[in-house]
Amino acid sequence: MRAMAVFPNRRELKIIDVPVPVRQGERDVMVRIREVGICGTDREISEFHYGTPASGTDRLVLGHEALGEVVEVGPSVRTLAPGDLVALTVRRPCNVPECLACRAGRSDFCVTGKFSERGIHGADGYLTELVVEDEHYVVRVPRVLADVAVLVEPLTIAAKAAVDLDTILRRYPWEPMGLRALVLGGGPIGLLAAMTLVARNVKTFVYSLEPANSDRAELTRSIGAEYVSARDTSVADLVSRIGAVDVVFEAVGTAKVAFGAVSCLAPNGVFILSGVPAGGKTIEIDLDGIMRDIVLKNQVLFGTVNASRASFEAAIQKLEQFMGLFPAAIRGLITHRAKLEDVPELLRHPSGIKQVVVLAS
Ligand code: BGC
Repeated sequence: MRAMAVFPNRRELKIIDVPVPVRQGERDVMVRIREVGICGTDREISEFHYGTPASGTDRLVLGHEALGEVVEVGPSVRTLAPGDLVALTVRRPCNVPECLACRAGRSDFCVTGKFSERGIHGADGYLTELVVEDEHYVVRVPRVLADVAVLVEPLTIAAKAAVDLDTILRRYPWEPMGLRALVLGGGPIGLLAAMTLVARNVKTFVYSLEPANSDRAELTRSIGAEYVSARDTSVADLVSRIGAVDVVFEAVGTAKVAFGAVSCLAPNGVFILSGVPAGGKTIEIDLDGIMRDIVLKNQVLFGTVNASRASFEAAIQKLEQFMGLFPAAIRGLITHRAKLEDVPELLRHPSGIKQVVVLAS
């Protein structure tokens, strides 16, 4: 069976032959992988800056944004049957008894860092033909979503952030009205976050590098959000262009843009960070001013990573809602479908919005 693997020690990326996995536990499910999305994390891993093979091996099978079809189920599996379309979660819990997060089924909040992540840290990923996984990590997706369901995993990032945002908004003893939001970055995560906000009737701006007449700008406008190009407006000028916003969702992964935009935040505003910078760069920034504002305006800044099964279920519901609201925009996010052998090229030369590898149909 073929798989796309990275060998960090040898700095190699290639197709390898791996054994067909076998169901062992009573709750195990065998899934035929249909599609896998490629993202910035895969690029970082393929450039050997991130990612770790499972212990005892020198290679890591890539891929964590998976859509598949169930081919076999163990005798105790209750929620799935052969033929079901499924998305697979990424993180698996640590086994430290004191980790309350992992013990509560929320490894996305793991405190030990000893979790594994399929295709990223210590566990093989989904860029292969068949995988075996416990039922808990396999989430059924309605057939009507088949052509876009590979977007479920990236959408979970926005779905999880939306729940945490609601928790913070509940601190006000009034119903927040007329909310305005700024999304930094027009990549797949940024655009999915923009859709999540627009679908909640939040007036949304997307700030990104591409020009105002680009496909991303068109797609942004088609969902009812406003596009602001970094070519016409500097981060420093953003607030005078769009006014203060109640929510900022950062999806660019650069501190300069992220912290440059903190001044856009209205009193009581919430700033959500989701990008992971490569690190190592020093930038000059008025942190005293940022801290003063955060304190004097009761603002909240939080980071968000990974997602639980509940966020996968929420993302699937959101995807159904988006397919009703803006089906062309959702489909338009997937700009390339390629074969397993094209992965090295896709990783080297990103283009379009979301690139997807097709393993089976
Ligand atoms: C994945 C998350 C993962 C994070 C950090 C992201 O690309 O979507 O599941 O937790 O990388 O490894």
